[in-house]
Amino acid sequence: MKRHRRLRATQNIRNMTAETIISVNDLVYPLFIMESNDIKDEIKSMPGQYRYSINNVIKEIDNIQKLGIKSILLFGIPKNKDEKGSGAYNSNGIIQKAVREIKKNFNDITIITDICMCEYTSHGHCGIIEKNKVNNDKTLEYLGKIAVSHAEAGADIVAPSDMMDGRVKFIRKSLDKNGFPDTAIMSYSIKYASAYYGPFRDAAGSAPEFGDRKSYQMDYRRKKEAVSEALTDIKEGADIIMVKPALAYLDIVKTISDSTYVPVAVYNVSGEYSMVKAASRNGWIDEKKVVIENITAMKRAGADIIITYHAKDIADWIKE
Ligand code: PBG
Ligand code: ZN
Repeated sequence: MKRHRRLRATQNIRNMTAETIISVNDLVYPLFIMESNDIKDEIKSMPGQYRYSINNVIKEIDNIQKLGIKSILLFGIPKNKDEKGSGAYNSNGIIQKAVREIKKNFNDITIITDICMCEYTSHGHCGIIEKNKVNNDKTLEYLGKIAVSHAEAGADIVAPSDMMDGRVKFIRKSLDKNGFPDTAIMSYSIKYASAYYGPFRDAAGSAPEFGDRKSYQMDYRRKKEAVSEALTDIKEGADIIMVKPALAYLDIVKTISDSTYVPVAVYNVSGEYSMVKAASRNGWIDEKKVVIENITAMKRAGADIIITYHAKDIADWIKE
């Protein structure tokens, strides 16, 4: 008989033989920043997450830093939206102002900015609309401008989430041409059209006004395409590739991490967060244990970087 139980006998032995350990260095905390004065507004469908005005996000980043978290991912909520999402690339847009202010106040926080148009367009789609469709190639110009404006403000890493084809190459070229060869690209390479983004769209007011995102985000019934997306983005210049959502897609995370040679990030998205929060608030699950189990599973599947709304709680728990 093989007695597997020998190595499960004590906490010390279990710790000694553990292969997957979460570190605070793996975590990225997403933040929603709103064009507004002195706001800290709880997002109803994401208990414990807030929309912040710039002055209050500075205070929040101070808390985050004290917990040992080193990286943040920023989303902007502009006051005004229009057809062309001009708030996304305006040098005085919400994200550009926020990044400058954060850089002024913190020198050891890595700032990642989401590059997309859906929070800024009146129609809520991730690109430029022509004949009721998102025009891939026209959108590239705008994504390039958004990325350059974020880099100018001081972003360390830009993260395109729009899912247009060819955008990593276009953004890399735009950054290089404008004097930002050192700004890294974390590409949302493998982003499925998912119902798990529901609470986020609530938070950012970015649900599409007509239709859905299925003509540009991926179909979750396919998996071979994921490798193709990842290899394309790496070839186009992505420094880090991402799989999103996380939990229902760990098979994809595993495949991607086995078939590429760049760091892999996963996005533990809003719906995944809210489900755990809802169950734990009802007393149905142990929040701390479930979150650690979920995050460990993401890392075990091959994720090097984990973007999660649970980051502050995790940082606190793993310190103990
Ligand atoms: C914008 C974007 C979305 C998310 C990240 N960037 C929403 C979407 O594609 O509709 C989702 C994040 C989350 O659900 O936490 N394109
Ligand atoms: Zn979008």
